[in-house]
Amino acid sequence: MNRPSHFIATLLMALVSVMALGQNVRADYRVVPLPGSINGIKSADFKLNEQCLINYPTGNRDMERNAMMLSQYVEEVTGIHLSTRPSVNAKDNAGNITLLLDPKTGSDEGYSILVTARGVEISGKTPAGVFQGIQTLRKSLPVGAYATVLLPAAQVQASPRFGYRGMHLDCVRHFFGVETVKRYIDIMALHGMNRLHWHLTDDQGWRIEIKKYPRLTEVGGWRNGTTLGHNSPVNDGIRYGGYFTQDQIRDIVRYAADRYITIIPEIDMPGHMVAALTAYPELGCTGGPYEVWGRWGVADDILCVGKDHTLQFVKDVLDEVMQLFPSEYIHIGGDESPRVRWQECPLCQQRINDIGLKTQGNQSAEALLQGWFTTQVQHYLAQRGKRIIGWDELLGCDVDASATIMSWRGAEPGAQGAMAGHDVIMTPVGPLYFDYYQTSSTWNEPTAFGGCNTLKKVYDFEPVADGLTAEAKQHIIGVQANLWTEYVTCEPQIQYQVLPRMAALAEVQWMQPEEKNYADFKTRLTHLVDIYKHYGWTYRAKSLVLEDEDKPKD
Ligand code: ACM
Ligand code: ZN
Repeated sequence: MNRPSHFIATLLMALVSVMALGQNVRADYRVVPLPGSINGIKSADFKLNEQCLINYPTGNRDMERNAMMLSQYVEEVTGIHLSTRPSVNAKDNAGNITLLLDPKTGSDEGYSILVTARGVEISGKTPAGVFQGIQTLRKSLPVGAYATVLLPAAQVQASPRFGYRGMHLDCVRHFFGVETVKRYIDIMALHGMNRLHWHLTDDQGWRIEIKKYPRLTEVGGWRNGTTLGHNSPVNDGIRYGGYFTQDQIRDIVRYAADRYITIIPEIDMPGHMVAALTAYPELGCTGGPYEVWGRWGVADDILCVGKDHTLQFVKDVLDEVMQLFPSEYIHIGGDESPRVRWQECPLCQQRINDIGLKTQGNQSAEALLQGWFTTQVQHYLAQRGKRIIGWDELLGCDVDASATIMSWRGAEPGAQGAMAGHDVIMTPVGPLYFDYYQTSSTWNEPTAFGGCNTLKKVYDFEPVADGLTAEAKQHIIGVQANLWTEYVTCEPQIQYQVLPRMAALAEVQWMQPEEKNYADFKTRLTHLVDIYKHYGWTYRAKSLVLEDEDKPKD
């Protein structure tokens, strides 16, 4: 390149950067999920720069942590470093950002952000609500390195539609370590979510240390190889496994709690138990031998509930689980539990006789035995202040309406459960299984379970069916997407499967249906994706630009 044209090119590039800087230094509160209201105020912009402090109420540890997180987020996104300071003096607000607790601010997780030239106030009824306001402010900032960002004067308010806003992560089929789980929690926080359903035990591995039963992880934590693809006859023959120690779990639970995310552990029972049976074969009906599975699907070998020893085992495991997880809810699974072993097992049949269970209509005695077992567990947990969540198969087992149901085989079981008085969390395979493909054009995609849950299908999902009574509608307490990991082997693939679909889910979880607008969401999504890029997260870029993919193929 000769010198004059090089000079002009450099000048042009400098001009373009200055123009870009000029255009991008204003915050935009139209983030994902879109706040319920954004009202402009007649005032000059607030100037956010390193002269600003973040005030928080003196002596409030949660608000102090909120202030520190806000400082960290602002610095990560814009490069601007803000110091924090305890203060309850209103005159300190001038020129600064102030975090406030205000009992008048809407619901528990609602927030209000008031921006004028004089200062910024983020208020909530609870520290959790303030944290949600912090996420909105964080997402409104331009991504880059700036000396000053202008915050337009406005009042921004929001309150989530659902109290339970979940994501699920299967750490069994493939194992992911502490740092990956923490980053998943970070991604959830950015999207305004508050429940992590953590799938920790299954046929392919036992991933939670239980001190009383060390073989669960020593033996049950490992398999001798993994099938390639969708249960092909080829097994890689590579020993695979791992587990979380109790110290690691405590660390992750605290990390999540600092971000107002409750972790709900799932110990799936009585099915999906081959890893435990391999470690302790006496827990099964046949006594084994068993082998931790290296393939996918549903195993016939489940816990033998004819043995008192099995019930004691379950209680002992749950004792340690309750010590680790402060969550009121414990997920006890209950899905995909074939009863063929129970039909043949003298002890299970003896139990059926002893309790006096008889086939009722389309509920077999064995289905009712699963109901009896679940009720034993439910009572044990209830005596310790805990409640159960179970998969929608429990609706066929005559369990008490105090069990919360997770509707996965479509939304219909959940609707029926809600009509029968159960609280319900909607997580139907279509469209909320994020292990499914995101397009019908799958040839260039990483291997997924199957199906086709596009960004738009996720966005358009309505969890509360029209036909429900007003009372049943109140029982739909939440919405969650699930990430099973049979085909997800590493962290970038986790992120690829959930991003940007989590953004669409966040609007389902936060917004009233009449406020949602897919085209508008897509315009706002671009900036959220800039934040994904900034943090180095993997996402499916095609979902931002292509809309015709969910059309059926000719
Ligand atoms: C499930 O997907 N088996 C709950
Ligand atoms: Zn049995």
